[in-house]
Amino acid sequence: MQSQWLQGGKMWLGILLILLLCSSLEGQENSFTINSIRMNILPGSKVPNGWNMTLQCIVDVSTTSQVTPRHLVLFYKDDVMFHNVSSMENTESFFIPQARVYDSGKYKCTVVLNSKEKTTPEYEVSVKGVPRPTVTLDKKEVIEGEVVTVNCSVPEEKAPIYFKIEKLELSTKKVKQTREKNSRNKNFMTMEFPIEERDFVLVFHCQAMIVSGFQVEVSESAKSDLVTVRESFSIPKFHISPMGMITEGDDLHIKCTIQMTHLSQTFPEIIIQKDKAIVAHSKHGEAVYSVMALVEHSGNYTCKVESSRISKVNSIMVNITELFSKPNLEFSSTRLDQGENLNLWCTIPGAPPANFTTQKGGVTVTQAQNFTKIASQLDSGTYTCTAAVGNVLKESNAVQIAVCEMLSQPRIFHDTRSEVIKGQTIEISCQSINGTPPITYHLLKEEKILKSYNKSSNSPAIFKDNLTNDVKYQCRADNCHSTSEILSEVLLVKVIAPVDEVQLFVLEKEEVESGKQVVLRCTVKEGSGPISYSFYRGIEGKPFYQNTLNSTEAIWYKTEASKEEEGHYYCKASNRANLGKSIPQSNIVTVRVFLPPWKKGLIAVVVIGVIIAISILGVRCYFLRKAKAKQMPVEMSRPAAPLLNSNNEKPSSDPSPEANSHYGYSEDVGNHAMKPINKNKEPLNSNVEYTEVEVSSPEPHQALETKGTETVYSEIRKADPGFMENRYSRTESSLDGT
Ligand SMILES: *[C@@H]1O[C@H](CO)[C@@H](O)[C@H](O)[C@H]1NC(C)=O
Ligand SMILES: *[C@@H]1O[C@H](CO)[C@@H](O)[C@H](O)[C@H]1NC(C)=O
Ligand SMILES: *[C@@H]1O[C@H](CO)[C@@H](O)[C@H](O)[C@H]1NC(C)=O
Ligand SMILES: *[C@@H]1O[C@H](CO)[C@@H](O)[C@H](O)[C@H]1NC(C)=O
Ligand SMILES: *[C@@H]1O[C@H](CO)[C@@H](O)[C@H](O)[C@H]1NC(C)=O
Ligand SMILES: *[C@@H]1O[C@H](CO)[C@@H](O)[C@H](O)[C@H]1NC(C)=O
Ligand SMILES: *[C@@H]1O[C@H](CO)[C@@H](O)[C@H](O)[C@H]1NC(C)=O
Ligand SMILES: *[C@@H]1O[C@H](CO)[C@@H](O)[C@H](O)[C@H]1NC(C)=O
Repeated sequence: MQSQWLQGGKMWLGILLILLLCSSLEGQENSFTINSIRMNILPGSKVPNGWNMTLQCIVDVSTTSQVTPRHLVLFYKDDVMFHNVSSMENTESFFIPQARVYDSGKYKCTVVLNSKEKTTPEYEVSVKGVPRPTVTLDKKEVIEGEVVTVNCSVPEEKAPIYFKIEKLELSTKKVKQTREKNSRNKNFMTMEFPIEERDFVLVFHCQAMIVSGFQVEVSESAKSDLVTVRESFSIPKFHISPMGMITEGDDLHIKCTIQMTHLSQTFPEIIIQKDKAIVAHSKHGEAVYSVMALVEHSGNYTCKVESSRISKVNSIMVNITELFSKPNLEFSSTRLDQGENLNLWCTIPGAPPANFTTQKGGVTVTQAQNFTKIASQLDSGTYTCTAAVGNVLKESNAVQIAVCEMLSQPRIFHDTRSEVIKGQTIEISCQSINGTPPITYHLLKEEKILKSYNKSSNSPAIFKDNLTNDVKYQCRADNCHSTSEILSEVLLVKVIAPVDEVQLFVLEKEEVESGKQVVLRCTVKEGSGPISYSFYRGIEGKPFYQNTLNSTEAIWYKTEASKEEEGHYYCKASNRANLGKSIPQSNIVTVRVFLPPWKKGLIAVVVIGVIIAISILGVRCYFLRKAKAKQMPVEMSRPAAPLLNSNNEKPSSDPSPEANSHYGYSEDVGNHAMKPINKNKEPLNSNVEYTEVEVSSPEPHQALETKGTETVYSEIRKADPGFMENRYSRTESSLDGT
């Protein structure tokens, strides 16, 4: 029976195992899904500061199984997970006791079921308000000038917190000072408040502000304990003596005192000020300003007492009655000529009896009420007068007196060390040695004002001018004196013009008959005398004639010209203004000297005579030889006739071709441009002149005639013009070269 029960027990165990296996197999096949997930925030999305807050995450899961599957719920604030829980419940909660501003943010939760996961949207939660701060003070009783430290804190909250602390006078509720500060990493802030004069009972108010998202949460204002302030010294007090009305001349004492209400070792400094000026100061409890009362001392006096931070001020009006008015210095005229009367008199309105003095530049000139004298330049200056009644002295206005000395006649002069060359700039000076400056000088050039200068002293005024010709200058000077302007003497400045455009002329003809007069004239277009003229001939380096004249021309002549005077001429002219410069030189002229026609004729006759004689001798020899050879008589009379026919008179009867030829020749050499036609004429004329000479010969008549003529012509040319030509052409080339 027992074994049977045991067998039955074993069987039940097997069934249970199978069931268990089956159930576990069934569980693996269970299906589930997350239907939804949401959040619920209590008490709401806006939570008053300090309230309990609950975040609920509600999950809806569907499953085929009888039991809700275990899932993981994660809580996030601003994307940061702060809580997780494994649960089988539908709702999971997170409790925040006493929510603070820093709990504000965006919350969400996530459910994770095996591989499935679902997240809620973000839920914004803002915690409203800031707890009232606590305000503590380091002392409750202070002395003026000390400092109170105020500690304002919000222990419940976290930094950063912005604090604003105000100092108020309890009686007036007036805010006396406000300080604001941001605390970045502490939830409290301490600030110091100096205690000033007129602080009596103080209270401090504090407010805290926290930024949450885009919003600022502000706390209520918290009040501190009361602070009572004790004075260190009293407000300064004035004591004026004499009491009552103060008149000029009285001894005035303005005293300022304070009372120390707190026992401190050092007295603060006391200063008495009138307007901006300090008139008295002291560090010994009282300051006194003592002075003889004058109207100027009337006004608002201020007493300041200053210790390090405390400054206490009081002010008083002091009224001083005038004894007599300020004197007036009157005058006849402020601008006087030397020698006129200077009159000054000092008066007081109401004319009370007084003692007067008049000063000039601090030096007393008279003790009388009136000052009269004949003015001299030294009396120019600033005058004041002083009136005294008893001890009271009063000074008048200042009067500027100018006494003007008449100008002396101005001197006019220029630097005469060297002569003035045309175009140079010269300095002309004008100076009135006596006379009160400022002096105005006018420089007159040919009676017209050229320039003007103002000189503030008697030194010369220097004018500059550029000269081109002789000029008359004059100065005109003027100053404060009532006389009209004064003229200087006339200054004549002579200008040397440098020599310009030198020209040389031959008077009458350039062709000069030997024995007649030759005249050369050297002229300059411009130039001041004396001018040195030098005449040069040919290539000679030295002048053959020199003269110094005041004229613009110089003449050289020779009464009887000879061949020696023939040649190229030029002249040079210079004066002082050309010193150091190149000396101007004239053009070149050519002078030719020729023989008179009768001399030429004589020479021609002699020459022809010689030729005829030679011819006769030659013919005779010829015929003698022929006669000897042929022994025939020869007619000898025939050659004599042509010889007698030769035209001996022709040169003297018509001398002009010869003269022309000379002219033409010389022109040709001296000046190519002048008479070019004569150049061609010349050989023709000599032909005509000498073909008349017939030379008999045994040859046929016609042929002999031409041949004989050519021979004679060439011989004459060689004797006279040929020589001349060679000579001149040499000279010409050498002149061109220079
Ligand atoms: C806040 O929760 C605390 C417990 O954490 C409780 O003692 C208190 O009464 C609750 N306050 C309110 C206002 O519900
Ligand atoms: C859940 O929180 C615990 C501490 O409370 C932490 O150790 C664990 O890693 C968290 N789990 C997840 C999945 O973040
Ligand atoms: C100010 O007060 C807070 C809170 O009472 C305290 O923690 C802090 O130490 C105080 N700060 C100072 C400087 O006394
Ligand atoms: C005198 O001067 C003080 C300081 O400038 C000023 O406060 C005060 O009103 C003045 N008193 C009078 C009477 O003008
Ligand atoms: C000063 O006194 C004169 C007369 O004594 C009075 O007329 C004047 O008003 C006073 N001035 C002030 C500023 O008190
Ligand atoms: C001073 O001069 C003024 C004006 O010239 C005159 O009226 C007055 O009588 C003179 N006084 C004396 C004391 O000379
Ligand atoms: C003028 O001066 C004299 C001598 O110093 C003096 O005796 C007299 O009192 C003075 N007069 C006035 C009005 O001050
Ligand atoms: C030129 O003239 C000046 C003054 O006119 C005279 O002094 C000088 O002697 C003259 N010179 C000659 C060379 O005549």
